[in-house]
Amino acid sequence: MSRFLAVLAVVMSLHLSHSFRILGLFPHAGESHYQIFQPIMKALAEAGHEVTVLSHFPERSNITGLRVLVIDEHKSLMNAMDLALFENRRPYNHFLEFFMLYEWGVGSCQKTLNSTALKNILASGETFDLVITEFFNTDCMLAIAHKLNVPFIGLSSCTLMPWHLDRVGMPNFPSYIPALFMGYSEDMSFAERLGNWITLQSFKLAYRFFNNRAANSLIEEYLGPGIPDVGELAKRTSLIMVNTHHSLSGTKPLPPSVVEIGGVYLFSSHKNTLDSKLDAELKNFLDSADNGVIYISWGSMIKADTLPAAKRDGILQALAMQPQKVLWKWENDTIPNKPDNVFIRKWMPQRDVLCHPKVRVFMAHGGLLGSSEAAYCGVPVIATPMYGDQFFNAASLKHRGMGVRTFCGCMARACRIPSLLAAGRVSALIIDPQLM
Ligand SMILES: *[C@@H]1O[C@H](CO)[C@@H](O)[C@H](O)[C@H]1NC(C)=O
Ligand SMILES: *[C@@H]1O[C@H](CO)[C@@H](O)[C@H](O)[C@H]1NC(C)=O
Ligand SMILES: *[C@@H]1O[C@H](CO)[C@@H](O)[C@H](O)[C@H]1NC(C)=O
Repeated sequence: MSRFLAVLAVVMSLHLSHSFRILGLFPHAGESHYQIFQPIMKALAEAGHEVTVLSHFPERSNITGLRVLVIDEHKSLMNAMDLALFENRRPYNHFLEFFMLYEWGVGSCQKTLNSTALKNILASGETFDLVITEFFNTDCMLAIAHKLNVPFIGLSSCTLMPWHLDRVGMPNFPSYIPALFMGYSEDMSFAERLGNWITLQSFKLAYRFFNNRAANSLIEEYLGPGIPDVGELAKRTSLIMVNTHHSLSGTKPLPPSVVEIGGVYLFSSHKNTLDSKLDAELKNFLDSADNGVIYISWGSMIKADTLPAAKRDGILQALAMQPQKVLWKWENDTIPNKPDNVFIRKWMPQRDVLCHPKVRVFMAHGGLLGSSEAAYCGVPVIATPMYGDQFFNAASLKHRGMGVRTFCGCMARACRIPSLLAAGRVSALIIDPQLM
């Protein structure tokens, strides 16, 4: 409790002239995660605190009070995923995903503990008032907070994982709160509720057995013996800020130590401004689309370029029949058989694209950033979830009438998306998402 009060004092005194020394530890190399944490750390520096951040992403802006130390610049997961991975989803796939997360967690823990950046900080004897770290697939960084003897706040880029609930006394209700890994909404059948319960309980156990053990042994290897079990350290969590919003992800009982901050990253700075980052070419393309625009992006990690030729051509043929223009996040300079109405770009300021009034529909993978941006800008989504929380987000969108869901395996037979498009149903979706 005293730690909680200490952190509360830190948070509540943001507007006082007293500045705190804050250490942000973000060992996971997923760019979409860091896109949520970066504005928070920047805003803290802009508010006058001395902020040091360890991450995989160098900082290009020059903000007084913000120091970003790079763990390993070459290890970003940007465009790292092959679409072939997601062709055939089976009912036990989320257990395979658990182990994928586990392995990523071990890797990022090891890399960060062994990084020059972290070693320098620990060796320098610098003191801090607070650690802010990601709560995701490893609790390895809690050992750093312990070593520095400071309270810590967890940031979660998605709905909390089953293993985050107990550490802050968050109630578990598998009867109506779907676990992140399941593609369910609140509206579950008996079998789905049972599956949800099994997933929740088994993941909590598995996390303790695999992830905590691995973190403990790496911590001992790099920081020496005598540091408590990370499972015990986790119980000292002062606060969790989670990037969800009940309007999209559903309501649930939250203890005062869990705060929803969904959409915090939507604004360019702590002044809550929405400066558009559209360049002239993109702006012209969007402005001149009299029949509207279909925007396609499967996120930062998936390479759309790895789409098998048959599927890609199926989608392109269907797109060619649309009256709309199409904007597609595509990592290659070229796309074979490109119809005239399709325009490709390797990366786009997504929120600004989605909030452009000409954008009528968003074909997405159901990542939380894109889903939140679509909700914010009021654009219906055709979600094709592939991994992780995307099934959950897609179910949330569908449940609330904000979008429809298709499956990647189905796309394999070039069935649903091309046939939806071909039948002109996209236009129907633009008018009424409930139609689908
Ligand atoms: C950052 O800003 C400071 C002070 O405004 C300036 O002295 C420094 O040269 C700048 N650094 C870069 C890399 O722009
Ligand atoms: C730890 O880092 C050093 C250099 O910084 C490197 O040579 C070594 O291979 C790393 N160890 C592991 C296990 O990655
Ligand atoms: C771009 O596409 C071409 C032809 O499909 C392929 O040969 C090339 O390797 C791709 N480039 C990248 C960077 O993926």
